[in-house]
Amino acid sequence: MNMRGIRPALVAAMLVGFLGLAATSVLGLPKIDAEQIEPVVNCGCHSALLEDWGRSMHAKALVDPVYRLKLDEANKATDGALGPFCEACHAPIAVMGGLSGKDPAAMPPQAAQGVICAFCHQVTGTTEPIGNTSQTFEADRVYKAQYDDANSPYHETAFSGFHMTAEFCGSCHNVDHPSDPNLHLEATYTEWKNGPYAKEGIVCQDCHMTPGPGVVKPYPGTAAAGGPQRDHIYLMTFAGGNVGLGDAVLAEERLKAAATLDISAPEILAGGEKAQIEVTITNSGAGHYLPTGLTEVRQMWLEVTAKGEGDEEEEIGRRVFGTVLEDAAGNSPVELWDAVAIASDDRIPPKESVSEKYEFEMPEGEEVELVATLYYRSCSEEMAEEAGVEIPTTTMATVQQVVYASADARAQGSDVDGTGGGGNNVLLVIAGGGLLLIIAGLVAGVARRKSREN
Ligand code: HEC
Ligand code: HEC
Ligand code: HEC
Ligand code: HEC
Repeated sequence: MNMRGIRPALVAAMLVGFLGLAATSVLGLPKIDAEQIEPVVNCGCHSALLEDWGRSMHAKALVDPVYRLKLDEANKATDGALGPFCEACHAPIAVMGGLSGKDPAAMPPQAAQGVICAFCHQVTGTTEPIGNTSQTFEADRVYKAQYDDANSPYHETAFSGFHMTAEFCGSCHNVDHPSDPNLHLEATYTEWKNGPYAKEGIVCQDCHMTPGPGVVKPYPGTAAAGGPQRDHIYLMTFAGGNVGLGDAVLAEERLKAAATLDISAPEILAGGEKAQIEVTITNSGAGHYLPTGLTEVRQMWLEVTAKGEGDEEEEIGRRVFGTVLEDAAGNSPVELWDAVAIASDDRIPPKESVSEKYEFEMPEGEEVELVATLYYRSCSEEMAEEAGVEIPTTTMATVQQVVYASADARAQGSDVDGTGGGGNNVLLVIAGGGLLLIIAGLVAGVARRKSREN
């Protein structure tokens, strides 16, 4: 088929879809007057929660330079039709208030501040299917959350069981193609729903609205100045994997708690001999696939290297995990507005493992150090540069093993470093690192709690 022929027709068909979508109310959210909604201000009651939120990606969802870059591209490719779709999740007050497409600097603060307190706390429920802003919303200034005894002199409160569910998050953290509901571009909620954490009753909030990685529960404290002591409070941290633009400390802790690595290689291999080595990555800490979300942009990759005595480090294997989008002519990778299908998806489901085999030839010499490392970066260096931001690479996990050329070399090696040979060292190192992380997490948690109490 002639690719040049199909593209204009396809783009035209998709534009009709996008425009139709933009014309009907964007994705079920009501029309409101933005001025009715309270902007985020320091009310003096929830200062700690406000600081946490301020460091989160929710506070930057509309002004985030990486988002602005993709938004501009999406608008250029679709004559501006896609903008309101994007903004419904990135700045819901702007879309409901009819301000979409405006420069954030010209918007009132409640619209420009992205995913704000007064949006989330006036959500009343959701329609099915979950995703593409399926939530219902009422601008009634009755702020809803998990307590049935909250009492504020400043605004009304009400109990909402819905805020305790993953569906609350899923209404934005499931993104379907705007003109093809069967094309699931981001499916964090669905990945969670079909995985083991949903069965255990562990929700998004338990891992992402906490002071550290993993499930931190109970976390006692007060949710407002002068409010009662609670057995458990959630924090508005919403930390994920973005160490460049989000809360760097919390994001790095989460990335380091997400995966474990194992390496299996012979302990002794004579020079010139070949062996199969196997590296296993386990998604041990994420409640969804690894990576998740915007996975055509996120980068997670495994690198395996070998280093002989006095040699340069040599790469013996590399694998990238993610999704690749495909257009109607079968080209890939393509941008999401051109996508009609997901060409490939090799990510790791929660609590599952993926193993990679590599062939390795023992060089001449006494020993070789094999190292496997898993890296993560929120987007490519090119994209970060284009957006004018710095997005560092994070080491999620690393593991090493020494392969000796002979039993003698091995005995000598273990004499020299005095810790006994082979794989056991590695386990010790990792267990030690894990323990340090846990201790660091506890210390940080206590420090934060202290600062909250003061
Ligand atoms: C992305 C949505 C979202 C945003 C933004 C958000 N919250 Fe929350 N908030 C929640 C959810 C969900 C809960 C309840 C979690 C649960 O019970 O599982 C909650 C709980 C609370 C509570 C109850 C006490 C506690 O800490 O658990 C307070 C108070 C609160 N939020 C205030 C705020 C303030 C102030 C802001 C803005 C600075 C804010 N929230 C921003 C979703 C949000
Ligand atoms: C109104 C839509 C909306 C709701 C509701 C929402 N989010 Fe988000 N969330 C977003 C958007 C948009 C971003 C991305 C902002 C950006 O990177 O520019 C985001 C980013 C995040 C991130 C950071 C990702 C990273 O790369 O570090 C986490 C974690 C997160 N959300 C968790 C949650 C949790 C947990 C809930 C439910 C309590 C929730 N969100 C509810 C829209 C929403
Ligand atoms: C068992 C804990 C756990 C649960 C439950 C969980 N997550 Fe996560 N999440 C993590 C960890 C760890 C990471 C960091 C690794 C990564 O990026 O995937 C993460 C990353 C993320 C990110 C950033 C992904 C990226 O690379 O941009 C988002 C967004 C997110 N989670 C949203 C959610 C939502 C929404 C839910 C509920 C439907 C949820 N999470 C449930 C642990 C959890
Ligand atoms: C249904 C809700 C929803 C819609 C619609 C949506 N997004 Fe997002 N977007 C999110 C969520 C949730 C995240 C965070 C996911 C993650 O961390 O991987 C996100 C993250 C992003 C990021 C990553 C930002 C960063 O700093 O890493 C970019 C870029 C982005 N979106 C662009 C767009 C564009 C462009 C559109 C319109 C074509 C769009 N989004 C439409 C929910 C949405």
